[in-house]
Parts: sequence; structure tokens; C-alpha cells
Amino acid sequence: MHESILILDFGSQVTQLIARRVRELNIYCEIHPWNKVPTLTDNIKGVILSGSPFSVHQEGAPHPDVQMFIDKYPVLGICYGAQLLAFKSGGEVVRSTHREYGRAHLTSRMESSVLMKNIPANSQVWMSHGDTILSAGAGTEIICSTADVKYAGYQFIDKKVFGVQFHPEVYHSTDGKQLLQNFVVDVCGCKQDWTPNSYVEETVASLKAQLGNDKVVMGLSGGVDSSVAAVLIHKAIGSNLHCIFVDNGLLRKNEYHDVLQSYQDMGLQVKGVDASERFYTALAGLNEPEAKRKAIGKTFIDVFDAESKLIEDAHWLGQGTIYPDVIESVSATGGPSATIKSHHNVGGLPDYMKLKVVEPLRLLFKDEVRRVGKALGIKDEILGRHPFPGPGLGIRILGDITPEKVQILQEVDAIWINELKAHNLYNEVWQAGAILLPVQSVGVMGDERTYEKTVALRAVNSTDGMTADWSRLPHEFLAKVSNEIINKVKGVNRVVYDISSKPPATIEWE
Ligand code: XMP
Repeated sequence: MHESILILDFGSQVTQLIARRVRELNIYCEIHPWNKVPTLTDNIKGVILSGSPFSVHQEGAPHPDVQMFIDKYPVLGICYGAQLLAFKSGGEVVRSTHREYGRAHLTSRMESSVLMKNIPANSQVWMSHGDTILSAGAGTEIICSTADVKYAGYQFIDKKVFGVQFHPEVYHSTDGKQLLQNFVVDVCGCKQDWTPNSYVEETVASLKAQLGNDKVVMGLSGGVDSSVAAVLIHKAIGSNLHCIFVDNGLLRKNEYHDVLQSYQDMGLQVKGVDASERFYTALAGLNEPEAKRKAIGKTFIDVFDAESKLIEDAHWLGQGTIYPDVIESVSATGGPSATIKSHHNVGGLPDYMKLKVVEPLRLLFKDEVRRVGKALGIKDEILGRHPFPGPGLGIRILGDITPEKVQILQEVDAIWINELKAHNLYNEVWQAGAILLPVQSVGVMGDERTYEKTVALRAVNSTDGMTADWSRLPHEFLAKVSNEIINKVKGVNRVVYDISSKPPATIEWE
């Protein structure tokens, strides 16, 4: 097991950022809810206690036994974590008279403290707390202060235990990463040897041990996660991995053939299944978005089930699940994001399939998946792909779906995406797509009046899809794309650009 930092989550919005910063230092870490502490093994080198929306005095506030961590490991408390450590050690934590929120600067720091190594004298830090520490208890000393917060940071004398009331994990804390490095490298002694290559090596070894000679079936989507997961499993078990790529008739133009080809080029054993007609039949006459999603999800399961049964003795199902989904599903506080995203998981398989699940990316963030993919030699074309929803164009054709509508939208979408690529804008946006609206409007083409369809173009900037802003693309570029679409795609005479952000809109229109 790789050496690791344990991050205990008390429900802060930014706990994931702690993990990202630690991992950027090439040190492995895991987030666990405060009330589901894993076994305290020797590969754990230190513990970080996160922030929280709670006050230590509030009813229902998390109050785990912190002493068991202090006895065994170096500990760093951040915000609530720092207040909890102080409170439990007999210190005084009170409601702050004013909420300490936003940027602040250190006014003093103890240069001899290892946590303050290479932190400039007036370093900017980010505060966000309603409680404040008046005393951290006997055997502690202040290591930094700001104008308003005397106990900005403190340490236990003679113990490797620290607390900071600001958030070193957010970028506004300009030297936050240095502070985290001081803790995980200098205090905990982590080696910084967790790299994409070491991840590949260790994961392949553990997959080999886990799977032995067993067969694995896996549905590929053409997306980054399932592709990287498949290549990893393939590296471990070779031809015992059987991949299935289903054409649901709702993919982008040429996607079925192109993606199938690139999987084969990567050496994967993949079977293409053209099930378009089955999907179109299941969707016929359905207008309502959730009904369409369900029909697509169910048809996928039926097709996948039938195909996987053809692979004798397959007991495992490979999946491209990644860390944010795992954290959300086990989060102590649940959080609104968990419910918003639930309807997206249409790819899940029913229990009766009785397959054990193998998820080699379940501990990686998206950008780490891309780096691992690069270490595996997967092409940038696949690694840099925009997210594409499971139901595909099915939720980008508003209202009922017909093969003719799919064909029109595929043409429009291909022009949109190709032009973004041709103008070097594809990598500037997080996700782009076209939507076929159930709207016809009047136009003129030559001497003739037309009465044809409208398409909306959507391009957004985002980091995780939970919030998004519309991309400010150059007007000239949009004008060119619009002309191209109207001139080349029969049946479309109007193009609009979606300028809504999420929230309150969503990225998809259905
Ligand atoms: P929304 O529309 O909720 O989309 O802002 C956020 C992200 O999720 C994708 N999305 C889906 N993915 N099945 C999926 O696999 C779905 O039903 C689905 N709906 C939305 C969307 O493309 C965006 O990346």
C-alpha cells in the first residue's frame, strides 16, 4: 500500500481541494467522512482535519475522538479542524463577533515553526469562519496571526500537531500549498513518489492479484474515464478483458466507427454492437426528458446484458467510476450535489447481473485520470474529449426523437465541433454541443420563403460540470459557424447561441 495522508471530512465545501493540493505534491491521500474512519494502518503518515459548516458548540456538530489520531500520527487541523483540536485540548472557542471572511494577511509568524517554513512575513491567507479560537489550551503556542485573528495558526509544543484557521487549500491563500507541503513532507515525512507511472504500476499489479485468470466485461463509451479504465485493466489481464461498445444511434457523427477504430488501435478486444434501431423503437413517440432517459438506460442494459452473456464465465464488470462520484456517494453530509447528479447515473446495471465490480479509477480525480491516460500512451484526442452525456443526442433533441432529426443534429454538431477545433477553441471550452429545438421559424433563402428548424449552440466553461458559465467565443467565429450550418445543413434556417449560466440553467437542455 502506498504511503498516504488521511483527510477527515467534516463537510466543508472545499475538502476536495485539500486532496487536490496534497496530490499535486505527488503524495497520495484519501478523504473519509469523519464518522467512517478507516482502519488506521501504518501506511498513513499524517491526518488532516477539514473545515465544516458547523460550529464546535452546535448540536449535531462532528466530535470524533481526535486523541486517537494525535497518539498515532502528525495532525493538521484546518478551520473547523483547528477549532476542534483547540476545543478538545481545553482551549476556548467562541462565536466570533464578526464573521471572519475573505482575504487577510499575516502580521506575524514564528519563523522557527516547521509549518511556517518559506511562508513570507505578510502572506495572504483566506479566512472563512464564524467561530474563533481565543485559546488553544495548555501546551500550545501561536505560530501566526493576522490583524483580526490572533490564533491564525498554532502548534502543540512537543507534538506534531498544528491548527490553522485559514484555508491553505484555496488559491487565495497564496502560500497555502507551501504550508501543506511543510506539513506532509517536512512533518509527516512523505516521499512525494506518487506519480502517474507509479499509479499505473501499482494498479496493474493489484488488478492482476485481484482478477487472476478471471474474465472482465466492460462497456465503453468513448469517454476519457472508461477508455483509461479499460486500458489499465487490459494491461493487467490482456485478452481476459472483453469490451463492448454500443451504438445507441444517438452518438455524434462518425463516432461509432472512429471510436471503435481507435479502441482497436489501442489493442483492446472490443465488440461493436449497432443497436440503433432498437433504441429508436424504444424512443418512438416519447417526448418527456426523463421518459427518454429511462428508455435509453433500459435499452442499454438489455443490449449490454445480452452481449455480456455471450462471454462465458465473466464474473466481473469493469467501470470508469472516478473519485468525485465515490466521495459524493459516501459523504457524511450528503450535500445537494449528490441529489442533483443522481439522474445522470443511467449507465448503472441492475443487481440481477450479479457481476462483481472492478473500478481502477475510483480514487482519481478527472485531471489525474488524464495524466494516467497519458502515462499509458493514450492519444490526446481521446484524453482531451469534452464530456458527452450517456443518453447522447437523445437529450439534445428536444421532444420526440426520429432518425431524421438525429441525422440533422449530427451534421450541425459536427460543423460546430470541427470549427471549434479548427479555430483552436475546442480546448478552451469545457463542453460544447448543439441542441435541436422543436421550433420552426420563417426565413428566406434566395427568392424563397422557408419554414425550417432552429438549432441552439452551447459552449460552457466549467471545472466539474456542477456550475458553468457560457463561453465568450468571438462573434466572428460564431458568425462563421452559423453561416456554415445554415448553408450546409438542409432543414435548418436559424442558429442561436445559448448565453445562460448554470445555475440557474443547466448545461443540457433536457
Ligand atoms: P447538466 O445538464 O445537469 O449537466 O448541467 C452536467 C453534466 O452532466 C452531463 N449530463 C449527463 N451525463 N447522463 C450522463 O451520463 C445524463 O443523463 C446526463 N445529463 C447531463 C452533461 O452533459 C454535463 O457534462
